[in-house]
Amino acid sequence: MTRILVTGVSGLLGINLAHETMRAYDIVGVDRGKLVNAPFKIWKADLLDAGAVDAMLNSVRPNWLINCAALADLEACDNAPYLARALNTDLPAWMAKACRTRGISFAHISTDSVFDGEKDGFYTEADSPNPLGVYSQTKLDGERAVLDENKNAIVARVNFYGWSLSGKRSLAEFFHHNLTNNKSMSGFTDVIFCPMFVNHTARTLIKMLEKDLNGLYHLVGTQAMSKYQFGVEIARKFSLQESEISPKSILTSSLTARRAHNVALSIHKLSTDLGEALPEFSTGLDEFYTQYKQGFPQKIRSYAL
Ligand SMILES: NC(=O)c1ccc[n+]([C@@H]2O[C@H](COP(=O)([O-])OP(=O)(O)OC[C@H]3O[C@@H](n4cnc5c(N)ncnc54)[C@H](OP(=O)(O)O)[C@@H]3O)[C@@H](O)[C@H]2O)c1
Repeated sequence: MTRILVTGVSGLLGINLAHETMRAYDIVGVDRGKLVNAPFKIWKADLLDAGAVDAMLNSVRPNWLINCAALADLEACDNAPYLARALNTDLPAWMAKACRTRGISFAHISTDSVFDGEKDGFYTEADSPNPLGVYSQTKLDGERAVLDENKNAIVARVNFYGWSLSGKRSLAEFFHHNLTNNKSMSGFTDVIFCPMFVNHTARTLIKMLEKDLNGLYHLVGTQAMSKYQFGVEIARKFSLQESEISPKSILTSSLTARRAHNVALSIHKLSTDLGEALPEFSTGLDEFYTQYKQGFPQKIRSYAL
């Protein structure tokens, strides 16, 4: 059975990727101590400790490594730029090299926010990035360092939503939480993105590894929409009051880190190389809703301290 090492397994992507794939693959998740009850194997490590990556690879001996560990909070990156660089640039570069020398397939997760958002329409892999802040700059540097170290690596620029361990990690959870508590909230009308259901992200990553793809790919949802529209879609799916969401411009928000207005990405390269269309937005939203009805959010939270 193919053994997959998943770093950042307590994160939004990591936990869902591990959960999605644990029946078909031998999953080992890397965790710093949050997971106590996970239904897959755990390798406990702080990946910034000296020698941690090599010790882990030598002991776990995975076939594939999927790196979901990051400092992915934009404001946290602005507040701790050295930590952001260590996690988002230096660590993936080291992993890429360590995997190359051991013949391990490596997939690294990047972000849609490497672009400045000035383009009208969808960004392709050939468009020039222009990061607006510490998070996006360190992620872009990470992409480049990974592909410099390991030309067989996959670098996937993503954007996803789903249920998380904390219940607070994804934008979908933000809207769902406020809507179910009858709390009014705003949704940005001038930030356009392509949200993908996280299990679709996970399944597609697996297909990319199975197909032995390599290089830079955009891996996001098929439909571009504003963050406000996304909130409305969540409200409608869960039969909650969409009028609780007020349309608002990000220019009037209290968020301090700069964000691009348009991070719609083209998935043409990926769907061509995979030889299939990526799942529709509505299919993902249906699955997100079904998970909720089946108690999935509570289930994954029971894995954590
Ligand atoms: N969420 C999105 O829509 C989105 C959008 C674009 C790109 N991305 C990218 O997708 C990837 C996954 O994002 P996410 O939202 O799943 O992130 P997340 O929920 O913030 O999870 C980050 C993970 O990294 C782990 N980590 C941080 N420092 C570590 C260290 N020193 N040693 C070991 N593990 C460490 C965290 O562990 P602890 O729990 O112990 O802190 C956590 O498991 C990231 O590369 C991110 O940049 C995400």
